[in-house]
Amino acid sequence: MSMKLPFLKNKQQKDLSEENDLDNIPNHVAIIMDGNGRWAKKRGLPRIAGHKEGMNVVKEIVKAARNSNVQILTLYAFSTENWKRPKSEVDFLMKLPKEFLHIYLPELMENKVRINTIGDFDALPDHTKEAIHYAKEKTKNNDGLLLNFALNYGSRFEIMRAIKQVMTDIDGSKLSIDNLDENTFSEYLYTKDLTDPDLLIRTSGEQRLSNFLLWQVAYSEFWFTDVLWPDFSEEIFKNALHDYQQRKRRYGGI
Ligand code: FPP
Repeated sequence: MSMKLPFLKNKQQKDLSEENDLDNIPNHVAIIMDGNGRWAKKRGLPRIAGHKEGMNVVKEIVKAARNSNVQILTLYAFSTENWKRPKSEVDFLMKLPKEFLHIYLPELMENKVRINTIGDFDALPDHTKEAIHYAKEKTKNNDGLLLNFALNYGSRFEIMRAIKQVMTDIDGSKLSIDNLDENTFSEYLYTKDLTDPDLLIRTSGEQRLSNFLLWQVAYSEFWFTDVLWPDFSEEIFKNALHDYQQRKRRYGGI
């Protein structure tokens, strides 16, 4: 169940006028963290070693996002398609949120980071749900960066789920079809309390969306790098922000 995050859609950008290089920073950055398996293979290590290293990079990029005044960081941690992987790898990935939070929750609290998730939460193993539920509760009053994990997330599933809820509400006369527009539909998505991503980053050289935020990235800027996620760093993240700052977003206008 997603929690109400009423401050986010209307949250004012902080006053950045004193620091020119912080002008035009993306409010919401979404990242497809790809390449963990290849990173491990290159080193003759099991794939899970890449995921473990990837977890540590998450911590570094959370810090980089905070330092850059990004307000929402959405990380694609597990897709609805990732269940197809060998059970041992899935089990490992499902333990990572707990391990991450066990190590870093005190620091996240100190820095006022708020944890959120998008995706089919109920279908996660109990131990994963419990760790995340605890972290969401603990951080719910924090007003710093929103750290949003896409976990068991698939965009087509999200859209189908929204359509079914819309139809149920129309059937139950809670919603009139005349009032159904893009904004109303967005309210039925997991991301209903979030602004759309301004910048989407994908690592590892692949240039595809892999069922990630298909509705929400309609006008996002895309940024790709060949760097594998475990080698990603604050410096590369800042390069992506710098490129974003040079772009002219026209949203279909001129
Ligand atoms: C894709 O790389 C990566 C994933 C499916 C998992 C991403 C997870 C992390 C980076 C750790 C998440 C941390 C927390 C705190 C939840 P891949 O395995 O598909 O790489 P490959 O394409 O090289 O095989």
